[in-house]
Amino acid sequence: MLQEDERIMRIGVLTGGGDCPGLNAVIRAVVRKGVATYGHEFVGFRDGWKGPLEGLSRPLDIADVRGILPRGGTILGSSRTNPFKIENGVERIKDNLAAQGVDALIAIGGEDTLGVATKLFELGVHVVGVPKTIDNDLGATDYTFGFDTAVNIAMEAIDRLHTTAESHHRTLVVEVMGRHAGWIALHAGLAGGANVILLPERQFDVEQVAGYVEKRFQHQYAPIVVVAEGAQPLDGQMVLANQELDSFGHVRLGGIGQWLAEQLEAKTGKEARTVVLGHIQRGGTPTAFDRVLATRLGLQAIDAVHEGDWGKMVAMQSTDIVRVPLAEATRELKTVPLERYAEAEVFFGS
Ligand code: F6P
Repeated sequence: MLQEDERIMRIGVLTGGGDCPGLNAVIRAVVRKGVATYGHEFVGFRDGWKGPLEGLSRPLDIADVRGILPRGGTILGSSRTNPFKIENGVERIKDNLAAQGVDALIAIGGEDTLGVATKLFELGVHVVGVPKTIDNDLGATDYTFGFDTAVNIAMEAIDRLHTTAESHHRTLVVEVMGRHAGWIALHAGLAGGANVILLPERQFDVEQVAGYVEKRFQHQYAPIVVVAEGAQPLDGQMVLANQELDSFGHVRLGGIGQWLAEQLEAKTGKEARTVVLGHIQRGGTPTAFDRVLATRLGLQAIDAVHEGDWGKMVAMQSTDIVRVPLAEATRELKTVPLERYAEAEVFFGS
């Protein structure tokens, strides 16, 4: 029911960073509750921080969010624009918000997008953050939406690869995303029954990996090795797709799977092939878990805006949706604790 005594706000919504299944579910929940319960108005900013920076927007009303719950990607578009790397970036954002009559912003993103939101809040912008990333590496929240979908996609790929590995007596190396956190590799590897899982959180010994692979062949059961894109061999280096840095200073990872397959083939004498799952992990429709999580985060985000609870990120803690200071959420990356990795190690090589 509309609460008519409240002041109507005009609220901007943006999605930044890598796209992720569930973004549209958040936008839908924010707009549906914002309009129907509170009577607020919305404007969609296009392509992450580029939208408010350049004044690029689109209408965002209930009709615009119908039917988008199961849709992957983001109807608002995304980019990795960093306004703090652009001359007068903050002033331009403030001017454009004022020009469009925007009172508050809901920023949906990962460490970079929410890092910008944190700084803008400190500079007086009314902002609330919603955590998203398939990498699941944001602090202060147990899960980010997109992660469950990515893990399920990777698990299904591993299930399918088992049959080829067995039929052809090959090692199959599956390279998954996750940047500097091994959550996708750990969960997909555990769920898919991988023979070995390699994470960025612990450097691996390629001789030991080859030993696990040999053992699997002895059991007449072909090995699947899951390697996170940010995993590194002992005394080796992270393998990069290229040397360029994005505007947040990130390298583009990729290639460790191919390197590892070559090493394993040379050491075991058995054919080894690589499958790089890449952006397939970010594409398509979100799982039920991610749709529900994204929806609940969106509902809490619009409540926070309605109450003027600025500088907060909505988060999942246990089964509750809570609010935490944005600064706390973006302070450090949430990586896989080594004791969690030890649980998986029980299955290596056996
Ligand atoms: O942060 C999400 C993510 O998919 C990472 O897992 C990956 O390293 C990165 O984004 C890839 O970014 P891009 O799509 O810009 O190459």
